[in-house]
Amino acid sequence: MHFHRDANLIAGIEHGEDAGIYKLRDDLALVQTVDFFTPIVDEPYDFGRIAVANSLSDVYAMGGTPLTAMNVVCFPNNSMDISILREVLRGGLDAMHAAGVILVGGHTVDDPELKYGLSVTGIIHPERVIHNYGALPGDRLILTKNLGTGIISTAIKAGRAAPSDITAVTASMAALNRTASELMPLFNVHAATDITGFGLIGHAAEMIAGSSTGYIIETGRLPVFEASRKFAAEGMIPGGLHRNRDYYKNIVNVSPGISQFYLDIIYDPQTSGGLLMAVPADKAAAFVEKLHLSGVPDAAVIGEVTAENPGRIMVI
Ligand code: CO
Ligand code: CO
Repeated sequence: MHFHRDANLIAGIEHGEDAGIYKLRDDLALVQTVDFFTPIVDEPYDFGRIAVANSLSDVYAMGGTPLTAMNVVCFPNNSMDISILREVLRGGLDAMHAAGVILVGGHTVDDPELKYGLSVTGIIHPERVIHNYGALPGDRLILTKNLGTGIISTAIKAGRAAPSDITAVTASMAALNRTASELMPLFNVHAATDITGFGLIGHAAEMIAGSSTGYIIETGRLPVFEASRKFAAEGMIPGGLHRNRDYYKNIVNVSPGISQFYLDIIYDPQTSGGLLMAVPADKAAAFVEKLHLSGVPDAAVIGEVTAENPGRIMVI
């Protein structure tokens, strides 16, 4: 495919970045993104909150401020009660309110399967954009949310998840990446992305694609939902996990002795996952501490950026 270039285009679709960014003036750029998907929890209100947190996440990953949004809705008019859609949209509106985002419109189509998300418009200073590339050797990698939403969603669909499992994963997926995003400039974050469908490895791979750096990921430091260990052992593995592994395994080296659970969880497709950030080594501990104090309890240093093995991920 051939994309037309534009001098004002700061981030487009060529580098797999989270949002499009277009410079309007020397001190102002537009941030745009769209995302929508099918329910991953049973409660319509919670699905609405999660879908909105997920849609806003791409703006937050680049350091932007979301301002306005439009609902994108697919709804089976003939087979589903309209009260379900009302609850989805109420959850979405509450999440937008928490984010300081104003709903300005939307569009609904009749479709056999319920889907919901947002088209989001935000702003950013053109010189303060945080791309998914630009990590430097020696940087530490920080992940801000637990991994395992794909495995637990699979268990929910199979009727195996306990209410407490559902509560924990819902709280995490509905949490905005706003706090982590707003703290990024204070800790000189060099590069960031959000972890979604391609899993930790897939999104990490996009950060180092074509660069002269590699990543080390320490499985012993990964924040995970405890319940995902049990469900993975019971075979609650989403199809997307296998697809991610097939697609990315060629750039991954795994140390001997890494358990099957970690070989799964690093490829688990996430919904509304956390931010993965490359941070100067001398800022990493203070940043994690600040995140914990600011209501991002699962944030952790999970690895580092290296000059060795450019374009590859060492899983140790
Ligand atoms: Co993203
Ligand atoms: Co997206």
